[in-house]
Amino acid sequence: MVVDVVILAAGQGSRMCSKQPKVLHRLAGKPLLGHVLDTATRFENAQITVVIGHGAEGVRACFADRSINWVEQTEQLGTAHAVAQALPFLRASASTLILYGDVPLISFSTLQVLVELSDDDTLALLTARVGDPSGYGRIIRNRYAAVEAIVEHKDATPTQREINEINTGVMCVNSDLLHALLPNIDKGNAQGEYYLTDLIGLVRAAGKAIRTSAPASLLEIEGVNTRMQLAALERAHQREIAASLMDQGVSFADPARFDCRGRLRTGTDVFIDINSVFEGEVELGSGTSIGPNCAIANAVIGEGVVVKANTVIEGSINAPVVLANDVQVGPFARLREGTILAAGTRIGNFVETKKARLGEGSKANHLAYLGDAEIGAGVNIGAGTITCNYDGVNKHKTQIEDGAFIGSNSSLVAPLVIGKGATVGAGSAIAKSVPSENLAVARGAQRNIPGWKRPHQKPPEGK
Ligand code: UD1
Ligand code: CA
Repeated sequence: MVVDVVILAAGQGSRMCSKQPKVLHRLAGKPLLGHVLDTATRFENAQITVVIGHGAEGVRACFADRSINWVEQTEQLGTAHAVAQALPFLRASASTLILYGDVPLISFSTLQVLVELSDDDTLALLTARVGDPSGYGRIIRNRYAAVEAIVEHKDATPTQREINEINTGVMCVNSDLLHALLPNIDKGNAQGEYYLTDLIGLVRAAGKAIRTSAPASLLEIEGVNTRMQLAALERAHQREIAASLMDQGVSFADPARFDCRGRLRTGTDVFIDINSVFEGEVELGSGTSIGPNCAIANAVIGEGVVVKANTVIEGSINAPVVLANDVQVGPFARLREGTILAAGTRIGNFVETKKARLGEGSKANHLAYLGDAEIGAGVNIGAGTITCNYDGVNKHKTQIEDGAFIGSNSSLVAPLVIGKGATVGAGSAIAKSVPSENLAVARGAQRNIPGWKRPHQKPPEGK
């Protein structure tokens, strides 16, 4: 079966009060239109046509890496007019799904049902029963419960307005039928627009059938017109993500204070405290706990890991942060891209790492910068240790071998090798490599001056 997808996204979204096109506003960290595109792309070999208008250039640019037919609707004359712009791109007899760039959570399974329901002589329409149908098109059924027409709210009689089965706008229809019937739609209605909803009556008049199905969740058909609606949909969506994680063995201190803006995969008995934000691809192994106020992006985190409060983990897609089992980090740690910590390592407060590898059981418990560093097992990094990795032009590597001990407040001027079991005295500026088992001390010698009197303040005159 050939499936084509048309996504309407030409509207201005004026109620967002934004310079940015509405469909580029983000839900769970992804543009609204991105959600719809990701879902549409799950239909194998589907050709996707997006109808754009307001902010067309920005919308195209945002999805430049995808294969999409873009078509511009310069004047927004109504939903039928918008679909008509896509007609030249539709393949013959394609099951054509019509979706909306500002209805982000429509699900693949709901769309699969519509595709299955439709055929050459049957239009499949997604409808829903809602508590407050005002504003929506109403579904008009005959006495045999067959759908006869859709009447827009503004065109509906008081009796029709009582109907609580509404048009979601989403449908699947044979492209040949669209080609035949769309040109017959006029704009003789309350809004003077070409209504796509008029297609229903035309399909019936052509002796074809309408079948309906309902979405699994009402969130799927929720459109975004205002920032308030966007915020409400964000919360509802996050709650759904949290619920599904709980089903897989994750506990939350408060599922309402959790944000996933990417993909979070988890083992069992994971605990997530309040206000943590997950971005990109994140994996949390079984028994791992995430403290309050952590921001975690692109990280592969093992089992039994403890991430304490206010820790920032900033991996990238190409250089994720990797924490092996039983690692402890934070509070207030910052692990940047390419940080790789072996089992049992500890990174404490105010420690920043970047492209740093620490071997099993190594520790940097306080106040350090470890960048472009290859650190062995059982190494102790004292407070205030800095790898001076940058000479203003190039980055250089610091290598610290197994069992080395770096005293507090040491500057390690890379490139540099600190040998196995070597010791660096506190306060050293080390610019030459240290052979294994050596002690390196590089600081001004201490002078002690006996009987030293500190300056005293003179008592004021007359006292
Ligand atoms: C439409 C349906 C209504 C349904 C509701 C569900 C019609 C006539 N009405 O009403 O039955 O209950 O959706 O939300 O279809 N758009 C374009 N170009 C246009 C006009 C619209 O791209 O010329 C896009 C808009 O950007 C928007 C979508 O189509 O994303 C819907 O358009 P809108 O005018 O908001 O339709 P509704 O009044 O919501
Ligand atoms: Ca409208």
